[in-house]
Amino acid sequence: MQTKNAAVEPFSLEIDIESGILKNATNHLVRRASDMRGHYADGAALERLIAGENDPLHYEVFEVPVSEERGHLMYCISKLQPGRVGEECFMTKGHYHADAGTAEIYLCLRGRGFMAMKTTEGAWAAQEMSRGRMVYVPPFWAHRSINTGDEPLISFCVYPGEAGHNYGDIEQEGFPRRIYLRQGRVVIT
Ligand SMILES: [Fe+2]
Repeated sequence: MQTKNAAVEPFSLEIDIESGILKNATNHLVRRASDMRGHYADGAALERLIAGENDPLHYEVFEVPVSEERGHLMYCISKLQPGRVGEECFMTKGHYHADAGTAEIYLCLRGRGFMAMKTTEGAWAAQEMSRGRMVYVPPFWAHRSINTGDEPLISFCVYPGEAGHNYGDIEQEGFPRRIYLRQGRVVIT
């Protein structure tokens, strides 16, 4: 029986809940509008956004990697900007975990939106995200966050060390439903 994991000393750190900054983050993933080609229904609207606003920031992930060894937990801050591509709300690419049978917890710190989830069998779900709400993403569910508000949607995420990320499958499959803001109202189609 494994009784000892990789040598990680106990630690603590500070998270700026308002700004969504994980202090001392060593990994900083930045996705701009141009990284989102192929994900929105209205590709022309995305191109107008890229050209008209100088390829604006879309979302960021701040991470201090712990260990990808089973038994450890990884964590990150996800910060998704507000905005629309046409009428479709800004969203993250979404992913399955590379080790698909691993879950994840998102605790929303700020903003408003949804966590959209789907399985390879065609099941789909969306859970609301708002300050203080936690979303449980079960094993085998792809997940993407969607910002329906007018401020950044910031979440603290925790997942098993061995989970990894699989973006390729969801790029092929897409999600079966989309979330729009029309005349100030959230519309899921
Ligand atoms: Fe994940």
